[in-house]
Amino acid sequence: MLAKVEELLKEVEEFSTTDLDAVEAFRIRLLGKKGGITALLAEFRNVPVEQKKEFGQKINTLKKAALEKVNALKLAAADAESTNHGLDLTMSGQPFEQGARHPLSVVRNEIIEIFNRIGFAVSEGPEIEDDWHNFTALNFPKEHPARDMQDTFFIDPETALRTHTSSVQVRVMEGSEPPIRTISPGRVFRNEAISARAHCIFHQVEGLYIDKGVSFADLKQTLLYFAKEMFGEKTKIRLRPSYFPFTEPSAEVDVSCQLCSGKGCNVCKNTGFLEIMGCGMIDPNVLENCGIDSKVYSGFAFGMGIERIAMLKYQVNDLRHFFENDLRFLKQFKTAY
Ligand code: DAH
Repeated sequence: MLAKVEELLKEVEEFSTTDLDAVEAFRIRLLGKKGGITALLAEFRNVPVEQKKEFGQKINTLKKAALEKVNALKLAAADAESTNHGLDLTMSGQPFEQGARHPLSVVRNEIIEIFNRIGFAVSEGPEIEDDWHNFTALNFPKEHPARDMQDTFFIDPETALRTHTSSVQVRVMEGSEPPIRTISPGRVFRNEAISARAHCIFHQVEGLYIDKGVSFADLKQTLLYFAKEMFGEKTKIRLRPSYFPFTEPSAEVDVSCQLCSGKGCNVCKNTGFLEIMGCGMIDPNVLENCGIDSKVYSGFAFGMGIERIAMLKYQVNDLRHFFENDLRFLKQFKTAY
């Protein structure tokens, strides 16, 4: 029986918890009506007389130790509960889902970054634009089809949603002196039926460089640098003669197809090249319209669709994906930009 007392004493000494329920269970197990210590006390009368003294002392020590332990643990548990405000701080947290930038923002930022590295600043203009900045200053004749109601969302005969970011060129030229090196990202609007290849709202980046002695060679090298930075070192470009009212000469720029490396495939319709932008030397009339002396200065301009660049870069085959906010699509673009 003495051995049993020793055993319980050891258990009391070793027991520890911060949980109030566990303290109470421990108390019941030892000191409750059917508890271990209570049972030992009931046995006292069976203890031989010569052992009664020692047994009595030991069991008193045990009972005292058990009571002290229960009280101390209860206090500690209550204390822990009040400092934790009843919260279980060991519980694991709620999973936190991290978002990502929209692919069009990713590509826009990358374009800005590439041109920043060669000294182009960013400029912006209004989305609601007047006829002068969107058309007239850019040399669009009064009867030009781009002014047609079918393409342009007019607000009144003199005001429309801008149909291209070239309007920002005009504002920058009017508001600053050459040398000018700027790119203008922004939203543009055209009255087009929505399809896999067209949308009534899309994004462009306009580029503008004006200084003394700027030549077509500067334009070509700038665009080649951009294409290599954007699509990879092996990328080639090709310029085809074209027409824009605000540039002379004008060209359309193609990049070698990423899928077949220029060999010819379905995507590039076996040409090995894909169109990415329009460009040209700024027409002297446009410089003069904006208060820049065309006898002293020359410059180039270019304009590209951000959706188009994103589709080529990430091989997206339907423009509508960019506007539908389907998380299964958007989640695929987790990048540093
Ligand atoms: N504004 C033209 C468009 O929306 C794109 C463009 C072509 C911009 C040639 C330019 C340029 O600056 O030089 O289709």
